[in-house]
Amino acid sequence: MKLVTIVGARPQFIKSAPFSDMFRKGHKEIIIHTGQHYDENMSDIFFQELAIPKPDYFLGVGSGSHGYQTGRMIEKIEQVLLKEKPDGVLVYGDTNSTLAGALAASKLHIPVFHVEAGLRSYNKQMPEEQNRILTDHISDLLFCPTKTAVENLKREGILDGVLLTGDIMADAVNRFMNLSNKFYSNGKWLEVLKADNPHLPQLKEKEYYLATVHRAENTDDLMKLKCIFTALEMLDQPVLVPLHPRTRKLVGELNISFENVIIIQPVGYLLMLHLTKNAYMVVTDSGGLQKEAYLLKTPCTTLRNETEWIETLENGWNCLCPINIQSILEKASRNLDSLNETQPQVFGDGKAALRICQAIVERYA
Ligand code: UD1
Ligand code: UDP
Repeated sequence: MKLVTIVGARPQFIKSAPFSDMFRKGHKEIIIHTGQHYDENMSDIFFQELAIPKPDYFLGVGSGSHGYQTGRMIEKIEQVLLKEKPDGVLVYGDTNSTLAGALAASKLHIPVFHVEAGLRSYNKQMPEEQNRILTDHISDLLFCPTKTAVENLKREGILDGVLLTGDIMADAVNRFMNLSNKFYSNGKWLEVLKADNPHLPQLKEKEYYLATVHRAENTDDLMKLKCIFTALEMLDQPVLVPLHPRTRKLVGELNISFENVIIIQPVGYLLMLHLTKNAYMVVTDSGGLQKEAYLLKTPCTTLRNETEWIETLENGWNCLCPINIQSILEKASRNLDSLNETQPQVFGDGKAALRICQAIVERYA
């Protein structure tokens, strides 16, 4: 069968790696890269180090307002779909690239397959929540990473085409952890970081925080962003921050002179896995990183009032944190003694890609 896969943003490249490899063993896949993320360290680096097949179409849409970005994507994806006439279109996650791909396909009556279906934060202010609800309601196959996601869809009356597959990010972690160890263990991570950041202090494993911030609700409000970085600066261990370009463009306006916070460029996935596994704690508003922290048994503090990944909150591995200095300091220095290393396998068994491939081929080949 012939499948078109839409990717465009960093986490989608990572999720596509296990799927593309498996699907291509017996079927034709055409990859469309919308160009939502385009910096070398937000896009190309993932294709290179994870050996993801090169996109067949690069739409080069770039940044802009939601309407501009989504509109341009729909228009350009439609042209490719009309030309390629695929048997189905696969979309990942909840970005503008996801919604654009799903809408363009659905209007042409091409079946839509959604990986990471059914997630809800129940905060409709989030662009991601809007994207996922709309995508789920026009999808033909809905691949749910967790039981919670299946239940969420049931509550919205979506029952047909729903499959519990486990989380494809668990596949990615399993698949790439060995490679990450090979490149970055035995102090190589620090050498690589120092080569690009000569003033980096001598970080030690399990003695640094790893932080990322990019969510619109935190970056669009400079007071909130200032709270976050002020708190990070006050933590009792160094805080390594591979910073998303969206946030990097704003930190200069905060008038904080950083000593404890170490801002670096975004890193590749293999280094990120190593940094996550060896951090004392992750502090983040990322969706994917909350799960990776859980899977790699690193405690996490989530800089949001709600999460789609509620399973990570059970047993205290992750905790939500309202954006004020006191709360961030308290949650980030909470007692971790009671964390149980034997975690339930809430994100599946690392075979999501296989189940997704099988389901698509069984029904649509
Ligand atoms: C997007 C997704 C978000 C996801 C995140 C993953 C939407 C609405 N949001 O957020 O769900 O968690 O990707 O990282 O789809 N920029 C660059 N270079 C790049 C990419 C972005 O400089 O390569 C800057 C631009 O100033 C741009 C801003 O970052 O305006 C935001 O980028 P955008 O793709 O709109 O949203 P993200 O915050 O990346
Ligand atoms: N990530 C990465 N390099 C970085 C920051 C994040 O490879 O510098 C990875 C991270 O490990 C996770 C994914 O990017 O797999 C998460 O992407 P992001 O936080 O941008 O988006 P979200 O998951 O919130 O949609």
